[in-house]
Amino acid sequence: MSMTLRSNRSTLTQFLIEERRRFPSASGDFNALILDVALACKGIARAVAYGELAGVMGNHAAADGGSVNVQGETQKTLDVLSNDVFMQRTEWAGNLAGMASEEMDLPYQIPAQYPRGNYLIVFDPLDGSSNIDVNVSVGSIFSILRAPKDVMESGRDVVEADFLQPGAQQVAAGYALYGPTTMLVLTVGDGVNGFTLDPNLGEFMLTHPKLSIPEDTHEFAINASNARFWEAPVKRYVDECLAGKTGTRGKDFNMRWIASMVAEAHRILMRGGVFMYPRDTKDTSKPGRLRLLYEANPVGMIMEQAGGRASTGEIPMLTVQPTGLHQRIGFVFGSKNEVERIERYHREPVNVELANPLFAERSLFRD
Ligand code: AHG
Ligand code: MN
Ligand code: MN
Repeated sequence: MSMTLRSNRSTLTQFLIEERRRFPSASGDFNALILDVALACKGIARAVAYGELAGVMGNHAAADGGSVNVQGETQKTLDVLSNDVFMQRTEWAGNLAGMASEEMDLPYQIPAQYPRGNYLIVFDPLDGSSNIDVNVSVGSIFSILRAPKDVMESGRDVVEADFLQPGAQQVAAGYALYGPTTMLVLTVGDGVNGFTLDPNLGEFMLTHPKLSIPEDTHEFAINASNARFWEAPVKRYVDECLAGKTGTRGKDFNMRWIASMVAEAHRILMRGGVFMYPRDTKDTSKPGRLRLLYEANPVGMIMEQAGGRASTGEIPMLTVQPTGLHQRIGFVFGSKNEVERIERYHREPVNVELANPLFAERSLFRD
């Protein structure tokens, strides 16, 4: 299309090269890694787009029957395929010391035939995979960390502890969203930029420079079927939203739930909002639904870099010291003032119900 040919938008490659000029001593490894990740995402976007035509729908059939990942969740064919694409596109170039993924129990070692590099990547190859079979947006999420010094020096195998770095130490984070258009949203620690895949050129083009999240919102996202398991501060917050104009908030709220966190994150980046998958009492062995290292930390860095806020509900997500590769955590993110309000509710005394007549008398979500 002529629009494509005349476009003077930057490609992702151009954007990365121009960013790098600010760091004359940088080796270029980092840019090469991001471009490999982008290529993996283009590959996954095509697989997702072909869907049933490519025979990639449904559950993954392992040799021993169905397959279940380390989280105890059934793997979709596309979960496994996306994981393979990520590994294959990033393992060969000598930029990585190792990787870890939602779909792999243990850290993945760079095969012996390839050189090892200075970065670690942690990823959720396909987020929202319960939505694949119903043709709703899914995405890939990634977090890039520096390998510990002794890994860089010795080239030794990576172990779980190497990945257990607080989110504030991420070098970069991003996601690809496979929706009506394919987008790549990236932060390298200097704001957030969004790129749209141009299907004619096969290139990600900078379409959404310097994204910023409105501080206020009247839109929230939470899986309300868990209401009876929520802790009091979350109940209070949602009740106040539901009370709308007639309650203490004095304004009506709108609600969304896509069940693809990556798509919710994107909506919030585009127009504000707050997302909650809080810690709850549904299953006490799982302190939250989402995973710290490859869901909460990368999305958290993007939120903070766009002027939003990311929290456990109590403390900033990026300050959490991880204790396990697949650790779950309560996650609240989005428009700054709403996230801060939710954090404040967590700090206030637990018997807030008494101070809030809405909770007891008018709540839709009463126990
Ligand atoms: P994944 O597909 O990588 O396992 O992640 C799914 C997550 C997240 O994307 C979404 O917000 C949440 O699970 C959906 O949870 P519910 O099924 O409770 O709606
Ligand atoms: Mn996920
Ligand atoms: Mn996933």
